[in-house]
Amino acid sequence: MLKGKKIILGICGSIAAYKAAALTRLLVKAGAEVQVIMTPDAVEFITPLTLSTLANKPVLSTYFDKQTGTWNHHVQLGLWADLLLIAPASANTLAKLANGLCDNLLCAVYLSAKCPVYFAPAMDLDMWAHPSTQNNISKLQHYGNTLIPPGTGELASGLVGEGRLAEPEEILHFLEKTFTNSSSKEKGPLAGKKALVSAGPTYEPIDPVRFIGNHSSGKMGYAIAETLHQLGANVTLVSGPTNLPVPDGVKCIQVVSAKEMLDACLTVFPETDVTVMSAAVADYTPETVADRKIKKKEAHFSIALKKTTDILADLGTKKQAHQFLIGFALETDNELANAIGKLEKKNLDLIVLNSMQDQGAGFAGDQNKITIIDRKHQQFTFPLKSKKEVAADICGFIVETLKR
Ligand code: CTP
Repeated sequence: MLKGKKIILGICGSIAAYKAAALTRLLVKAGAEVQVIMTPDAVEFITPLTLSTLANKPVLSTYFDKQTGTWNHHVQLGLWADLLLIAPASANTLAKLANGLCDNLLCAVYLSAKCPVYFAPAMDLDMWAHPSTQNNISKLQHYGNTLIPPGTGELASGLVGEGRLAEPEEILHFLEKTFTNSSSKEKGPLAGKKALVSAGPTYEPIDPVRFIGNHSSGKMGYAIAETLHQLGANVTLVSGPTNLPVPDGVKCIQVVSAKEMLDACLTVFPETDVTVMSAAVADYTPETVADRKIKKKEAHFSIALKKTTDILADLGTKKQAHQFLIGFALETDNELANAIGKLEKKNLDLIVLNSMQDQGAGFAGDQNKITIIDRKHQQFTFPLKSKKEVAADICGFIVETLKR
């Protein structure tokens, strides 16, 4: 499955860097084209000569070659790769990646990469268990990167515990499994389609410590993003603040406010075939944001609010003939009439009406009951189901509608 794949193997400063030689060999034997990038510390642990010989390619480690003046372009490298694998990934590099630092070539390539990123940590058991490391790993997973878990056993320190770099064979197996799954997705009904899904709430700042938000959990949108990906689409999720992990294989742009969500959606939308706006975007935002915490004074206090841009309606005005746009409607009165009104006003292809009538259904819960309305105003009502099942119904409906 790795035949012909372009893989960047990032190697960090760790005793386990010696295993990168066997890993490079396995990747090359599996038919991959391997570009090794080492952090400056990694070259102290294993020689670039060993790795360049095994990879049949010069190893890169710095932004430019002092002797020839050649610039090692991190953007081109980031775009070239089908996969970025960081193994061993040290605690230091994980911390840098999680926080957007780029003081070496590998970190800069990571920030520029558009491909799936896998990281296989290697460190001592206490470093591994430290909340700071675990926090960085959660952040990376939240960005859509995949952890290849470390093993348990004897560590370089002589201690025994979790933190050993996964064996090269295990890493290879992990990648092969992923490519097998994704190549079966290449045959899915949405293969070749690009999808944009928005999810979660938005937070509108009042002052440095307060905001106006809502109870949206993001579960519906995340389930839709995951299902569209499983159907073969190339999915970008624009997410407001949630506690949910980004589904494997989905690219995620994290935003906070309605304005940030608008900007992210406008950037992604022109390239998109299918857009599902399931986010609970704030309709109003404070007119001004205080730069210091507002102190309490009077018995009554009001905040002047101004309307946000209706993102869905804005996308509806920009929609091209090949683009398919789906919105949600949450109504308490005149449900169908209001939903049809929004379908027309926002120039949508489908609208999903959320029922507020059933217990456990809706915003924050795990279940939903929906009616899908199409351009002919035909209505399709589904029973109360888990949000994952509802996502399957919505995405199945999209697939069927696109076939017509
Ligand atoms: N929406 C949006 N941008 C906004 C508000 C809503 O993109 N500023 C989108 C939502 O993601 C959803 C749809 O519009 O897909 C409908 O949202 P809803 O809150 O039901 O309706 P509104 O259009 O905001 O109207 P109202 O609140 O008056 O019912």
